[in-house]
Amino acid sequence: MSAPRHYLQFKDLTRGEYEYLFERARWIKEKFKRYEPYHPLFDRTLVMIFEKASTRTRLSFEAGMHQLGGSAIYLNTRDSQLGRGEPVEDAAQVISRMSDIVMIRTFEQEIVERFAAQSRVPIINGLTNEFHPCQILADIFTFIEQRGCIQGKTVAWVGDSNNMCNTWLQAAEVLDFQVNVATPPGYEVDFSRLGMRGTEHCRAFSDPIAACAGVDLVTTDVWTSMGFEAENEARKQAFADWCVDADMMAAARPEAVFMHCLPAHRGEEVTAEVIDGPQSVVWDEAENRLHVQKALMEFLLLGRIDN
Ligand code: CP
Ligand code: NVA
Repeated sequence: MSAPRHYLQFKDLTRGEYEYLFERARWIKEKFKRYEPYHPLFDRTLVMIFEKASTRTRLSFEAGMHQLGGSAIYLNTRDSQLGRGEPVEDAAQVISRMSDIVMIRTFEQEIVERFAAQSRVPIINGLTNEFHPCQILADIFTFIEQRGCIQGKTVAWVGDSNNMCNTWLQAAEVLDFQVNVATPPGYEVDFSRLGMRGTEHCRAFSDPIAACAGVDLVTTDVWTSMGFEAENEARKQAFADWCVDADMMAAARPEAVFMHCLPAHRGEEVTAEVIDGPQSVVWDEAENRLHVQKALMEFLLLGRIDN
């Protein structure tokens, strides 16, 4: 049995594989929009393991697997043995003998890495404290749909150096674009956790408006990610000046788009004027989780398909 291909971090795929996936996602999306059935994963089973809450990730993986002809099983920490201390390695052995592909949303990245090391089937990271690769896959697909190739473009990240920020930085190295990162003091990027070759695709800013100057995409995320709720009050104070507003969008290129992975807090990390305004593409961004993850699951299970 050959080793399965996993998707645990953005850098697990090459630029060529992303080019294939973006084209494949476009083809799958068009077919879906024409109501044409497409069942390449007939009889395959996806297991989805959630140790944190989700709306979009669960919905897009579950609906996506059904649309590809397979079925999806939802497990969470509360009502499975996962929450009662069964070793990750044992769970991986068992779950991967009964399914064809597994998606995991959990806390430390190390958990998905350990799960994958014992799995007979592909593992997809559905969000960890460190990374959210499926979301950036959707975000870049959305940028390409809206504005064309991302290579050579500049993204402004305003806010916390969290799982989304880390994944943007990995993506910039793989796909050759720039990320301007504006974080409050004490919340800077920790490159030692990112496993990147260098830092030349990232520029750090203390002023968020300066970070947005002339960029092609402005993006942000919640100030407090899941698992860090105890820091909420301290973060509200530290991030008060890191709310993406009309002044930041005005500093960006006129054709710049705004993205947010959602859920959003209007009046905290972004104003209602921006997220509900004409430059925002957040609803396409959310929908595209479905299409890119269908392409990803097909690729991990069947490899490249030539139509
Ligand atoms: N963006 C995202 O992953 O959303 P959910 O937490 O709802 O899955
Ligand atoms: N950074 C956020 C993303 C939620 C989709 C979190 O981890 O909670």
